[in-house]
Amino acid sequence: MKKLMIVILGTMFILAACGGANANDSASTGGFDAEKAANDYKVCAACHGSDLQGSKGGAGLDRPISGLAKEKVLTAIQEGPGVMPKDMITGEAAENLAEWISKQ
Ligand code: HEC
Repeated sequence: MKKLMIVILGTMFILAACGGANANDSASTGGFDAEKAANDYKVCAACHGSDLQGSKGGAGLDRPISGLAKEKVLTAIQEGPGVMPKDMITGEAAENLAEWISKQ
């Protein structure tokens, strides 16, 4: 019985360790600065919600922007569709923000 417990506990530990390593991998190979992006996103939050899920009513968009392709987000930032102001964020910061949004 004791042996079985050790095997079960050991398996759980290995599984937990693998999960942790995978999470770290994807975070470090993301290629974008999440902290900077989250900070830059503040100018978008009024219209797209603090969690990218959209805002109901007003000038905002009522559908989420999370998970859109990076190119699509970048185009929106550069061209400002509809009432959305264009070039609120530019250059590398815009690339970084677009990548971050596409990964949310
Ligand atoms: C004044 C409100 C406002 C602000 C600020 C704003 N947006 Fe928008 N955004 C909109 C609206 C409204 C649309 C939909 C436009 C349309 O299609 O007519 C939109 C569209 C988009 C889309 C395209 C969504 C889709 O499904 O095609 C993306 C991506 C986007 N915005 C990202 C951003 C980002 C990133 C920022 C910050 C740099 C930002 N927006 C700032 C109002 C805003």
